[in-house]
Amino acid sequence: MVRNVASLVLAAVLALPVGAVPAHADGRIPEVIGGKVATAGRFPWAVRLSMGCGGTLTAPRVVLTAGHCVGKTGPNRKITVTAGAPDLKSKKAIAVKSVEVFRSPDFVTETSGDDWAVVRLERALDLPTLDLVPDGSRDEGTFTVMGWGQTRETALRQERRLHYADVPTIADEECAKAFHKVGVDLVRDESICAGRHGVDTCQGDSGGPMVRRDRGGKWVQVGIVSWGLGCARDGYFGVYTQVSKFREAILAATRKLS
Ligand code: ARG
Repeated sequence: MVRNVASLVLAAVLALPVGAVPAHADGRIPEVIGGKVATAGRFPWAVRLSMGCGGTLTAPRVVLTAGHCVGKTGPNRKITVTAGAPDLKSKKAIAVKSVEVFRSPDFVTETSGDDWAVVRLERALDLPTLDLVPDGSRDEGTFTVMGWGQTRETALRQERRLHYADVPTIADEECAKAFHKVGVDLVRDESICAGRHGVDTCQGDSGGPMVRRDRGGKWVQVGIVSWGLGCARDGYFGVYTQVSKFREAILAATRKLS
């Protein structure tokens, strides 16, 4: 049901004329990702999934993504994962097929929480993997988000290069209030909201990571791109699956598919 409300709202909003999309004071339409293109090697565990989502290599043979990006748990050879290069057309990009999917058993739709899944690849990749946030970590601050998705809400185009941006987290209360106005109930203890006007993830970024550096400078995954209302709009935020909440379940699923 929540999904229906959410997609109705989305459809209504997307049907607005282009002029209704919030623009900067200077008339520019906000660049969703904030305009930065990732250089090779900066986020070596970031991968692209062929259905138009992002993901991360959490083990040499396992990709973590959003539940709404994949089908149900079981054998699955339909996904092609592109890894090893932020430029999908680069000679260094590796394409590898999926063999199996495990989706959170509690997943229903992206706005109802539990929006995570892991994918087993046909072979292990010789690339760095990304760790999940350690137990008991704070899920507040400024985090880095990334993806090959749209750089504008109205751009019906995916990017060839990986884009990234830093976004501040927003208190659950403020975020829940914003989405309540449009009839969507935020699942507070399973979500992290983040973003500011003009900087956000967007369509096609789902499944990709929200990361921060730990004390030793190593990246750890804090969130998974899940949903939003349009992109980078004033008063709305991107919603990310709260990885700390699902840490044990994701680790168990990763081990099983490794
Ligand atoms: N559900 C979208 C996808 O499938 C991600 C939307 C994120 N939106 C946002 N405003 N942060 O790619």
